[in-house]
Amino acid sequence: MIRYHEFLHVITLDQCDSTNNYVKTNYENLQDKLPVLVTGSLQTAGRGRGKRNWVSPKGKGLYSSFGFKLENNQNLNFLPLIAGISVIETLQKISGIELGLKWPNDILYKNKKIAGVLIENIITASDIFCITGIGINLNHTAAEFPGELQDKAISLKMITGFNTSAEQINPVLAALLFQWVKKLSTGAIEEIIQTANRCSGFLKNKNISFHRPADNKIISGIFKGINHDGGLILENKQGSTNIYYSGEIV
Ligand code: BTN
Repeated sequence: MIRYHEFLHVITLDQCDSTNNYVKTNYENLQDKLPVLVTGSLQTAGRGRGKRNWVSPKGKGLYSSFGFKLENNQNLNFLPLIAGISVIETLQKISGIELGLKWPNDILYKNKKIAGVLIENIITASDIFCITGIGINLNHTAAEFPGELQDKAISLKMITGFNTSAEQINPVLAALLFQWVKKLSTGAIEEIIQTANRCSGFLKNKNISFHRPADNKIISGIFKGINHDGGLILENKQGSTNIYYSGEIV
């Protein structure tokens, strides 16, 4: 265990099932070490949103989970947005590339997914413990993605031509993420929403398909942005708008 950042406890694992699982399982022991970053070279059972797998071979990606406390559960809607923004800013800083945020927290390069975020919170009477798991495709070639992802996924190397390591990215990502967490705790919600809307501007006024969890249906509509509460604004055919706080753009 090393401490490479003055405020962050870093646990580096050669292998684990999932870095999110590691934080969850060790939740009690980690209490006096927060905030914590658990990062793995490979995951044998990496998990994505919607019960999907996150294939996590060694040397190909960044697999990191941040564990920290939030004081106010009103802030939880904004956590996916700041995680996504932090990844976008990190990759922009490291490689100069422009990425987009697909609400709530998929990170895209020209419509292909380069990174994703899986947030799992443990909420008790006294605490809100947040686990923010981040996966970034770093060094894959197109052929190294599983068949069904080949036209949907992209890696940093496919964009820049260079290999990048998780060790290079983690400190930048941690600094940016906790900068946003601090803003969240001090109530800078407007800045978060403005930045999230800027990052998802490429989708504004575009027709999208949306998976609505309430009835498990895919509906279509026009993406009008992210509202003051972090919800997705979708305009239907009749021209009226609905706000969604869960679900995903498909
Ligand atoms: C998604 O877009 O579906 C979310 C992917 C999240 C993957 C990361 S990798 C580190 C952490 N551990 C996991 O098992 N999942 C997240």
